Amino acid sequence: MSNKIFSGVQPTGNLHLGNYLGAIKNFVELNNDTNNNCIFCVVDLHAITIKQDPNKLKNNVRETVATFVASGIDPKKSIIFNQSSVAAHSEAAWILSCVARMGWLNRMTQFKEKAGKEKEKASIGLYSYPVLMAADILLYDTTHVPVGDDQKQHLELCRDIAQKFNNDFKVDNFLQVPEPLIQKEFSRIMSLKDGSKKMSKSELSDLSRINLTDDQDQIKNKIKKAKTDPMPMPKDIKDLDERLEVKNLLGIYSCLNNTNLQDSIEIFKGKNLSEFKEKLSDLLVAEIDPISKEIKKLLEDKSYLDKILLDGVEKANSIALKKIDRIKEIVGF
Ligand code: TYM
Repeated sequence: MSNKIFSGVQPTGNLHLGNYLGAIKNFVELNNDTNNNCIFCVVDLHAITIKQDPNKLKNNVRETVATFVASGIDPKKSIIFNQSSVAAHSEAAWILSCVARMGWLNRMTQFKEKAGKEKEKASIGLYSYPVLMAADILLYDTTHVPVGDDQKQHLELCRDIAQKFNNDFKVDNFLQVPEPLIQKEFSRIMSLKDGSKKMSKSELSDLSRINLTDDQDQIKNKIKKAKTDPMPMPKDIKDLDERLEVKNLLGIYSCLNNTNLQDSIEIFKGKNLSEFKEKLSDLLVAEIDPISKEIKKLLEDKSYLDKILLDGVEKANSIALKKIDRIKEIVGF
């Protein structure tokens, strides 16, 4: 039996190296394996949980599609579509929000981080966002969900919701309980300015992240300016406990070089940081620069990107409609 892969990315602009190494690079590998049926969703409903400029949203959706394709996802092999065009997502999210418990959502750390001290002013959508994510996944009988480490808790919630729905309505295995696909090492890429914070689209300083649309000079400059410390490169993994920024850069190097952390340490031990940074820049430019160029090229052909979405929406809709019809029957509508 083939695997059913589903994952989503928010179209909030500034897709970065964290999104790429934590998620999109894995999407490409999964897309290339003929055992998998992959669906990659541009989650515009999730995006509006935080204020978006309505004049930019559509283009940000296209940019996310362009990023998928430029990174190597083949729209002929995988379904690429945007969430708001398939109404079943919103419908399923409502029904599942009546299954999910407040206590479960109250534990979600990402809401606490995103809402911060302004919890009372956060949108209800931001709070219930993991339920919409569960709807996305469960509508497609997904078996595996490739994501970065920050989404792990949301996937556990999705599994709980699926199991509770199946129990409450006595429909054994009707909602497929999905497995997360999270890399063991480097599943959380950190900010280039602070090794204790995740690399993110929302951090104010652009120097904190490598954007997938950055050119060679920007990439080199950001690595040059990335925060480190005055010591030479470490000789042992243990030395990295107190050197979060260097650990993150070595992690990025290892991901791109397909080596583990220990092997990367061996390559550079005792050397100058500047020498390491230069090698890291070279690897990053080799990986990201072609993607960046391709994204820009694809963005010039909006009708091609819209066609990918249109095809994807049609295919996704036909799967999701069947599932939501059954869900409605099961709850008694
Ligand atoms: P989003 O748009 O924030 O991020 C997209 C993907 O990138 C990963 N990611 C990272 N990985 C490693 N290091 C980082 N610094 C980093 N930053 C982001 C995320 O883990 C994610 O895999 N709720 C999701 C989108 C979503 C979804 C879904 C995912 C909606 N429905 C269904 C899977 C299945 C989100 O906001 O991701």
